[in-house]
Amino acid sequence: MAKFHSIAIDGPAGAGKSTIAKRLAKELNFVYVDTGAIYRTVAYFLDLLGISPKDVDGVERYIDELTIEIEYDENGTQHMIMNGMDVSGEIRTQDISQKASLVSAHAVVREMLLDMQRDVAKKHNVIMDGRDIGTVVLPKADVKIFLTADPAVRAQRRYEELIAKGQKAQLPTILKEIEQRDYQDTHRPIAPLKQAKDAVKVDTSALDIEGVVSAIKQIVAEKLGL
Ligand code: DC
Repeated sequence: MAKFHSIAIDGPAGAGKSTIAKRLAKELNFVYVDTGAIYRTVAYFLDLLGISPKDVDGVERYIDELTIEIEYDENGTQHMIMNGMDVSGEIRTQDISQKASLVSAHAVVREMLLDMQRDVAKKHNVIMDGRDIGTVVLPKADVKIFLTADPAVRAQRRYEELIAKGQKAQLPTILKEIEQRDYQDTHRPIAPLKQAKDAVKVDTSALDIEGVVSAIKQIVAEKLGL
């Protein structure tokens, strides 16, 4: 059986995982899997039904009515298909970010998504980003990166992103949301965000995108011989 390579990039919200992973995927010709988008799709589905992300019974009752597919367009961009509908745009709100963090704490949700994520890695060379990729989803990943940055730096980046898109944003609110998500994602009992023992930590606080890409490319080259 052909062996596919996998690169796991974990870390807190706003550390730059998706930007870096997309760039690397293009350069290495790997498939980029944004696993946060899958949790966001679950959160969006429950939200449409009016189920609170904290409602254990509600989540368990309705989760079977959800089918999720991951599709890629000709540019390699990932699309999230919820019960046949492309919801890739709808899942990118601050509200859904928070709800995805809460929804992702449920065992039934994590179990449902585990095989979906592993299946992609069985069929392709992947760069997968998330919170538990190196610890739970792909514990045998060839390369594991733990990408992090100071909360204040992450909030500032997010603020600039929103302002550049012409959206209204308030830095203190963004910082509070980031800290809340960090707390939730690191303190849940199942598959919390944490650095895998064999992951290389890259702190991006003082680096620009080019700096991070070249640091990670060097790590990947050493581990994979690419
Ligand atoms: O990466 P993101 O901001 O799109 O992720 C949204 C939420 O989904 C995040 O706060 C926690 C959850 N998540 C998770 O629990 N495990 C993953 N592998 C990816 C995301």
